[in-house]
Amino acid sequence: MKIVIVGSGYVGLVTGACFSEVGIDVTCVDIDRNKIDNLNKGIIPIYEPGLEDMITRNMKKGRLSFTTNIAEALKDSEVLFISVGTPPDEDGSADLKYVLAVARDCGKHMNDYLLVVTKSTVPVGTSIKVKQALQEELDKRNIDIEFDVASNPEFLKEGAAIDDFLKPDRIVVGIESERAEDLMKSLYKPFTLNGHPVIFMDIISAEMTKYAANSMLATKISFINDIANLCEIVGADINKVRKGIGSDSRIGHKFLYAGIGYGGSCFPKDVQALIKTASEFNYELRVLKAVEAVNKDQKLILFNKITNYFKGAIKGKTIALWGLSFKPQTDDMREAPSLDVVKNLLEAGAIVKAYDPIAINEAKHHFGDTILYYEDQYETLIDADCLAILTEWPEFKIPNFKIVRKLLNTPAIFDGRNIYDREEMKENGFDYFCIGIDTSKNNVKS
Ligand code: UDX
Repeated sequence: MKIVIVGSGYVGLVTGACFSEVGIDVTCVDIDRNKIDNLNKGIIPIYEPGLEDMITRNMKKGRLSFTTNIAEALKDSEVLFISVGTPPDEDGSADLKYVLAVARDCGKHMNDYLLVVTKSTVPVGTSIKVKQALQEELDKRNIDIEFDVASNPEFLKEGAAIDDFLKPDRIVVGIESERAEDLMKSLYKPFTLNGHPVIFMDIISAEMTKYAANSMLATKISFINDIANLCEIVGADINKVRKGIGSDSRIGHKFLYAGIGYGGSCFPKDVQALIKTASEFNYELRVLKAVEAVNKDQKLILFNKITNYFKGAIKGKTIALWGLSFKPQTDDMREAPSLDVVKNLLEAGAIVKAYDPIAINEAKHHFGDTILYYEDQYETLIDADCLAILTEWPEFKIPNFKIVRKLLNTPAIFDGRNIYDREEMKENGFDYFCIGIDTSKNNVKS
């Protein structure tokens, strides 16, 4: 089978690479000539574990190719995936111009039956617009070619996307014809051999499933963060509470880690978009509004702890930051809590020294020369007044605490991801602060 994937961003590349891995002939299309030239040279624009190897391997086998020419790519292809960006526009709703431009391109260039599958996260109801846009172009050409639209939302986690694609918990597909269902069934067959189901449904429900899934996950995070904040006040320990509630199989252990708020390209955008969709139908999603509000405050919690510790005297203090990406195993900083932490520290007059295993280049786009960057995590600590952990990279988990202690001016650690043990920190002589446990007693710097 031959397929086309339009949009060679994160989702498009992972999708293209994984389909080619199982022997499907994939052409990836993008309007960015530079990106396509680089991909043809084996230069991958994003960091995702395993992706580069998979792309180069399948290019060599001749199953994966990259082009800017959608008309050429469409020849002999039965299925086209739209995986272009849907950036939020001013009012927070997804901008569909790229998605609809692809639909129009299909209408302009297709000569045979085509199944157009939307993979980009799009507002409920978008597939109807895709269908209309494509049909309009066919009408302009005055020809009658059969086509179907479908919705196939992705549930890939950055840093684990290849594994998520190859071994999905489930595949959700919204279709309106048997032909489309059969095509999607055969396309995904290699990924369902281990028993993971393809769940077929109508298109609107598939579109809604994606938003509901991400909103549910974001809700879990804001819920646990809210409870964590209360734990601190009443003297409970969120780690114990998390284990206690997670053992109830109806609740489960996953996605209940308190921290400094969710970030990334999906949760913030999707929660906002669903609230917007609801309001367009005069419905208020009250729970999700609260989820958003809690998350906004949570991103500031570490800054507030640092400010309290230094009794408001942040000006001129040097703060070392470990981790800038929104989560480990990615260089992605979109909506990362580090953006808020750095902004507030700089506004308060602090000097910021930062280290991240792979997000430094990305960080330079955001912060320019307003902060100092280091290639070694310990170098950030020289002359620093405290250390703050913003991302739980594995290499931060067992640092040499003796060196940390020796280098820091003040032995204070602010752990935004609860990766250290409170007792161990005490033994090592640190003033230690984390999320959801009141460690501040006898901790305040006098
Ligand atoms: C998410 C969804 O998991 C994925 O299914 C969807 O398709 C895209 O959005 P991703 O954005 O890659 O994936 O990140 P994820 O691993 O889900 O984490 C999102 C954010 O939640 C991160 O900022 C992370 O630090 C935070 N998080 C996650 C917590 O604060 N606590 C948790 O227990 C879990």
